[in-house]
Amino acid sequence: MKKCILLLSIFFVLANCKSESKLNVESKSDIDKKVDSLLGVMTLEEKIGQMNQYNGFWDVTGPVPSEGDAAKKYDHLRKGLVGSMLNVRGVANVRKVQKVAVEESRLGIPLIIGFDVIHGYETQSPIPLAESASWDLEAIKKSAQMAAKEAAAAGINWTFAPMVDISRDARWGRVMEGAGEDVYLGSKIAVARVEGFQGEDLSNEETLVACAKHFAAYGFAESGKDYNTADVGVSTLYNTILPPFKAAKDAGVRTFMNSFNELNGIPATGDKFLQREILKGEWNFDGFVVSDWGSIMEMMDHGFAKDKKHAAELAANAGSDMDMESYAYVNELANLVKEGKVSEAVINDAARRILKVKFELGLFKDPYKYCNETREKEVIGSKEMHDAALDMAKKSIVLLKNENNILPLEKEGKKIALIGALAADKNSPLGSWRLAAKDNSAISVLEGMQKYSGNQLTFSEGAKVVFGNTNFINEVEVNSKDTSKFQEAIQNAKKADVVVMVLGEVGFQSGEARSRANLGLPGVQQELLEEIYKVNKNIVLVLNNGRPLTITWADEHIPTIVEAWQLGSQAGNAIAEVLYGDYNPSGKLPMTFPRAVGQVPIYYNPKNTGRPGPKKEVFWSHYQDESNAPLYPFGHGLSYTTFKYENISVDTSLKENIKVSVTVTNTGKVKGKEVVQLYLRDVIGSVTRPIKELKGFELIELEPSASKEITFNLTKNELGFFNNKGEFIVEPGEFKVFVGGSSVTSLETIFNY
Ligand code: BGC
Repeated sequence: MKKCILLLSIFFVLANCKSESKLNVESKSDIDKKVDSLLGVMTLEEKIGQMNQYNGFWDVTGPVPSEGDAAKKYDHLRKGLVGSMLNVRGVANVRKVQKVAVEESRLGIPLIIGFDVIHGYETQSPIPLAESASWDLEAIKKSAQMAAKEAAAAGINWTFAPMVDISRDARWGRVMEGAGEDVYLGSKIAVARVEGFQGEDLSNEETLVACAKHFAAYGFAESGKDYNTADVGVSTLYNTILPPFKAAKDAGVRTFMNSFNELNGIPATGDKFLQREILKGEWNFDGFVVSDWGSIMEMMDHGFAKDKKHAAELAANAGSDMDMESYAYVNELANLVKEGKVSEAVINDAARRILKVKFELGLFKDPYKYCNETREKEVIGSKEMHDAALDMAKKSIVLLKNENNILPLEKEGKKIALIGALAADKNSPLGSWRLAAKDNSAISVLEGMQKYSGNQLTFSEGAKVVFGNTNFINEVEVNSKDTSKFQEAIQNAKKADVVVMVLGEVGFQSGEARSRANLGLPGVQQELLEEIYKVNKNIVLVLNNGRPLTITWADEHIPTIVEAWQLGSQAGNAIAEVLYGDYNPSGKLPMTFPRAVGQVPIYYNPKNTGRPGPKKEVFWSHYQDESNAPLYPFGHGLSYTTFKYENISVDTSLKENIKVSVTVTNTGKVKGKEVVQLYLRDVIGSVTRPIKELKGFELIELEPSASKEITFNLTKNELGFFNNKGEFIVEPGEFKVFVGGSSVTSLETIFNY
């Protein structure tokens, strides 16, 4: 009889779940009710199952645990012990695992399917650092929208993006995946990406649940070495590290991922302060937190957990709701609950958060809504995707230097020598984090330039760059010493009017676990550059890279330098359009380029110190053997036209809305875009403030000779900062305001608040 009543209540609960309507604000309380009734019929093991995430069967994005065989995973799916899978992609594969979860498990709760849609699914847009160089929030949002649409057509409904970790250290390979060094720009981009991925309605099958990662301080790994310790003070934590996460939360991001690193002695995965106090407490985040790959069990290596059971206890109590590939929750949590070490309330809370997001996606109504073969065929790799990728790629290019106006290139009657193995490489432009892209599918620079057939084009590899076995998992060989192709390149350069050299990093040379201690051009590429320079000085250096590089020699000698990052599937077309002037570049650096590795971490907004310089005597904060100045500052980027800044004025008559105005004029001969940047300095603070901080920017486009007055509005949000108790305060006093086309600004004035 009892069993009969239970079965009947399960039937009613599930029937009710299936009639879930589209998510909108009004239906939130409905969802809560449905989640509650579902929780009411779930066993402890089934609730813990929701907290368990398994990797799929082929793509691997971390070390593989020994427990991870396919038979066991299927068995657990059937028993309702899996809430999510990652790296299962393609409609047929997703349908296969979803079918087991929905049709063979007792309650038929659908899986949420996660994947690293970092800069595209199959069609790759530029790496996130490159996109950030566009400072074009609409374009970045659109790019995330396109990525969501393409990935969702492949059965995915959850992306592990955006990565909103601020980093000031180009040695850290994952700078390619973020928005760079600045908290203001990073926060705006975090919002654009969350809005792009999630859209306005999660139950729309062209959107994905987004995930703000890695919470927190992963970008502050000591010495730029991935997974390393982060030890930062409260001021940096509150003012630099946390705000982009808060911005993502305020934009409605539904999931967070914690991080591999420890922060001030506590592994982030087991950090109650971060997850319970800040995220779920102070910020009132009601989505769920997934661990990073294996980061629960890694707390044993950190010397924080004595065994896996202890790790599960620490992570669950600290607020990590879902276990990615540690097999810790599924094996240990039930016993921990029975022993009273983890309360049932913790399990209920985690399961509730996860189920809620599944309802919001509409998965209970139709678990196969992301499994539409026709849509998969139509959307993936479509013209719409490639057009968007090309548009984003052009906007991401930064013109670092253009002496003698070598660029744009003339379209007729010139001899052009294209040199560098990367120029013909169709894989590297795809960058890192591109698991679903087809190998060698990008348009190379060579292909892009061949479309401009009015010139005579020769190609030579010059320096060998090792591509062999450069996949996501294996170590990349970066130090080829092979100079056997130099001579051919030198001969071609001798005969050319202009030499275009494409040098930099192969696609997997940045990204996770790709830290570098040296930031120069890898292998013999620097040697090649110097050899070519001896025979032809008319060089355009096109950089392909996932991080700032110390190209100090190049800056001193090479007249023209273009930062073209790893621009994705349409890279070669975008680069050729910029080189030939069909697109006027407007990108600005989202990260400072150092002159030497010894300057790292280097960023535009340090504190002034008690001994700023320069001074005649030696006792000031500087290096003996290198300038303090960067090679290229944050915010730097040129155009084929020029801009004049004048008439800075401040209106403080409305105290809470301070208006700063400037006039910007296009003083060149062609139409161009400019990112007008505003920086502030709070001169005296109860906690010292940086020498300047970005607090506003506007992307404008001007015809030749046209002027525009730009007005920025400064409110408490821009004037204030977090004190060392984590409280946001605004202090009256003197502020300096700077405006210009980079962080090295041309206009400056003062106002009192
Ligand atoms: C990375 C995460 C990623 C996860 C799943 C980890 O190694 O740190 O950023 O989302 O793998 O692929």
